[in-house]
Amino acid sequence: MSEVSVTKDAAPVANALVALSGVNKHFGALHVLQDIDLTISRGEVVVVIGPSGSGKSTLCRTVNRLETIDSGSITIDGKPLPQEGKELARLRADVGMVFQSFNLFAHKTVLENVMLGQVKVRKADKKAAEEKARTLLDRVGVGAQADKYPAQLSGGQQQRVAIARALAMDPKVMLFDEPTSALDPEMINEVLEVMQQLARDGMTMVVVTHEMGFARSAANRVVFMADGRIVEEAEPEQFFNNPRSDRAKDFLSKILHH
Ligand SMILES: Nc1ncnc2c1ncn2[C@@H]1O[C@H](COP(=O)(O)OP(=O)(O)OP(=O)(O)O)[C@@H](O)[C@H]1O
Ligand SMILES: [Mg+2]
Repeated sequence: MSEVSVTKDAAPVANALVALSGVNKHFGALHVLQDIDLTISRGEVVVVIGPSGSGKSTLCRTVNRLETIDSGSITIDGKPLPQEGKELARLRADVGMVFQSFNLFAHKTVLENVMLGQVKVRKADKKAAEEKARTLLDRVGVGAQADKYPAQLSGGQQQRVAIARALAMDPKVMLFDEPTSALDPEMINEVLEVMQQLARDGMTMVVVTHEMGFARSAANRVVFMADGRIVEEAEPEQFFNNPRSDRAKDFLSKILHH
């Protein structure tokens, strides 16, 4: 018991894996990220929710430098994000990302999709890469699809391949940007279950989602964004049962009643 409270009270920064501090980002005149401070600890699962256009995707994309920032700092494991070249490729491997659209390579098989980054970025040999790819494909329940092309798979299967591909790089953190919102309803759960298992296994995760059941059961913390700001942060129970801000109350009443 004392160990838990020591970690919580005394060493949040030492345990920080991803830290955003005073981050600002504009798209032209639009101030899309406004003074964002967000620290994500090792093993923590943070669910980001908020209205359309509030900056959730942009926030994720800044963490693996798909978007640059105007001011502030972002560190991973205490190191600032690299600017370019091999270091940047390595960052993108350290920060796994799964998007709404599955983004698999259409002209490569499922197995090749999961092997490619291991060989190119991590410099694994082919045999080891294949072995790891097969293990991961089995783990996400699509081992039997290894030799097919992405277009031959269902959306839920493709998304699980995308997760396996990111995991093959041994990422330090996984970012999920609405990973189930393009899926037919019957495929949503098979993807959420893979994510639940990852969370239980201790993966550090940032998940943008409207799946409130997932947020309640898997998140350590909910971050609510509106108009480019973090308006509220709380544990899921606290956030869903007792939102403090009017923006969050309004948002929850809309998504929970429709
Ligand atoms: N590349 C871009 N160029 C210009 N404006 C952009 C660009 N990307 C995003 N925006 C704008 O920035 C704002 C935040 O967008 P973002 O995609 O981060 O929101 P979001 O919270 O992910 O929304 P959604 O829930 O619809 O996915 C929006 O107003 C959007 O139109
Ligand atoms: Mg988005």
